[in-house]
Amino acid sequence: MSDVKIHRVKPEWKKNALIDNETYLKWYAESVKNPDKFWGKHGKRIDWFKPYTKVKNTSFTGKVSIKWFEDGLTNVSYNCIDRHLKKRGNQTAIIWEGDNPYDDRKVTYNELHEYVCRLANVLKKHGVKKGDRVTIYMPMIPEAAYAMLACTRIGAIHSVVFGGFSPDSLAGRIVDCKSTFVITADEGLRGGKPIPLKDNTDKAIEIAAKSKVKVDKVLVVRRTGSKTGWVEGRDVWYHDEVASVKPDCKPEKMKAEDPLFILYTSGSTGKPKGVLHTTGGYLVYVSMTHQYVFDYRDGDIYWCTADVGWVTGHSYIVYGPLANGATTLMFEGVPNYPSASRFWEVVDKHKVNIFYTAPTAIRALMGAGDSHVKKTSRKSLRVLGTVGEPINPEAWEWYFKVVGDKKVPIVDTWWQTETGGILITPLPGASDLKAGSATRPFFGVQPELVDNEGKVLEGTASGNLCITDSWPGMMRTVYGDHDRFVKTYFSTYKGKYFTGDGCRRDQDGYYWITGRVDDVINVSGHRMGTAEVESALVSHDKVSEAAVVGYPHDIKGQGIYCYVTLMAGEQWSDDLRKDLVAHVRKEIGAIASPDKIQFAPGLPKTRSGKIMRRILRKIAEDDFGALGDTSTLADPHVVDDLIANRQNKR
Ligand code: WTA
Repeated sequence: MSDVKIHRVKPEWKKNALIDNETYLKWYAESVKNPDKFWGKHGKRIDWFKPYTKVKNTSFTGKVSIKWFEDGLTNVSYNCIDRHLKKRGNQTAIIWEGDNPYDDRKVTYNELHEYVCRLANVLKKHGVKKGDRVTIYMPMIPEAAYAMLACTRIGAIHSVVFGGFSPDSLAGRIVDCKSTFVITADEGLRGGKPIPLKDNTDKAIEIAAKSKVKVDKVLVVRRTGSKTGWVEGRDVWYHDEVASVKPDCKPEKMKAEDPLFILYTSGSTGKPKGVLHTTGGYLVYVSMTHQYVFDYRDGDIYWCTADVGWVTGHSYIVYGPLANGATTLMFEGVPNYPSASRFWEVVDKHKVNIFYTAPTAIRALMGAGDSHVKKTSRKSLRVLGTVGEPINPEAWEWYFKVVGDKKVPIVDTWWQTETGGILITPLPGASDLKAGSATRPFFGVQPELVDNEGKVLEGTASGNLCITDSWPGMMRTVYGDHDRFVKTYFSTYKGKYFTGDGCRRDQDGYYWITGRVDDVINVSGHRMGTAEVESALVSHDKVSEAAVVGYPHDIKGQGIYCYVTLMAGEQWSDDLRKDLVAHVRKEIGAIASPDKIQFAPGLPKTRSGKIMRRILRKIAEDDFGALGDTSTLADPHVVDDLIANRQNKR
């Protein structure tokens, strides 16, 4: 890979940057040599009601225990709001840009304080207490951020569920954390289309009741004003409730290790797991990464296009930016509505300085043509970012040349729901860039590559990506299932956090994430377990067996390829195909829509009955010259049939 083009740090990127390369190297060395000292110092970037005296108390072996700043007391909403009021009460905290370009709103820190306090008082009035779980199923409107912050104000644990998930998925998440309070909206609005959030909530509550979890209150924000079902006594309107309580609410003093939120994410097996993040370390880590990774400076307008339903929205729309007193932009819409210029029009309209999006959006906009970009000015931009999946060099170069006019550095940030914040990333004033590489670790992060047997690989190498020591923002457990936490992340390679990603390290020590090495696929930056899609398919009464794999997709990064075996006597038809797609959407949500479904009279299995996914992946990738050893298959002819009838014929 010696032909990789290096984009050196430009003098103007370095000029006023917070961190140059010398500082990066110095701080990084300090951070790994003496984490207690390093984090002891940087932990003070947030305010503490009672300062910590202990910094790091972590172990990746045995029962695995992660504690940071454990004897300190703090509060997240206090840090994201109250502490800014004196200096920036009248500064805009949130710019809201609606789905419709004529719809926008600005919320100052003073206003944010009032709205969050009122909502916190509403929660209290309805009996929500410290430690209770509150489910938030909301569109991208400021009330979603108020809801999260209101929970943190009183010490309730929020579980935000992405608005694109189906009633079944929502119900599963309500049941898993036994959440009895739900905050939602009548409808969401994306690309001009309504999303029936309240109706979905009603259905989810019915499903959850079957598992003996009874939701007693649903707080509904009026977004579109359209009619929805209403259960008297259970459902209440947000606007009525907040008007009836006081505009002030004292923040609860929380221990650093008190739970902050649960966020469900897909793994390679079973149902989505509740990733648990806690208070102090998480906030220190997300505020610090937000500042240095984006070279955020006072007064900058910062925009992350993610949805608050994903971790990127938690850490880099809400908590990181607000902890830093930033102006954060929240966008309700989609990149191509009303036209493919929308992102850049919003950048110009609000004079956005820092812009953070996903490779899938970049590829889609690249496909729409340069003219949509070129007709806008974009001259306010100073840093561009990407997250969620590997970015192919073509898309990176396009982002750099066309969107950034070759004047703006790109930070390709690698991280996960589990890591809480960014782990591997360039810093704008410090790192030479290579298109497609997330470059080097952030302070305190120690990556290691190992082979399948766990042997540590040194120097230039390709292997499985592990992290050998703790950082303050990492998850603490799987909610309600600590054994699963230990088993999933710390037992594949003993004593190391295993990320599930494959990775290459080049001669400059730069990291290149190559994608998941487990049965997780990444579709348009949305993470999905193939097992979840399979179980949705087999829950259809005509399906006897299903195997799902990812395959390369030009826009989505990976597409969903399903092999389906029908029950005896059932006939394959196009109608059935459509029915199966609809069924999966109903079970999980539109993000899990199968791209290809292949009818398979048989699946390639070993003699002991294990499906050989490696072979299915190769066929889906159209790479059947490289099927490898098929001699262990119970019936090798199955493979010939699958190849002959594949859905990817070129
Ligand atoms: C992938 C999203 C390459 C990776 C923050 C990881 C990336 C998974 C990058 C986590 C990147 C995320 N380059 N791959 N810059 N960022 N990924 O939990 O496979 O939704 O394990 O968190 O996305 O997805 P998650």
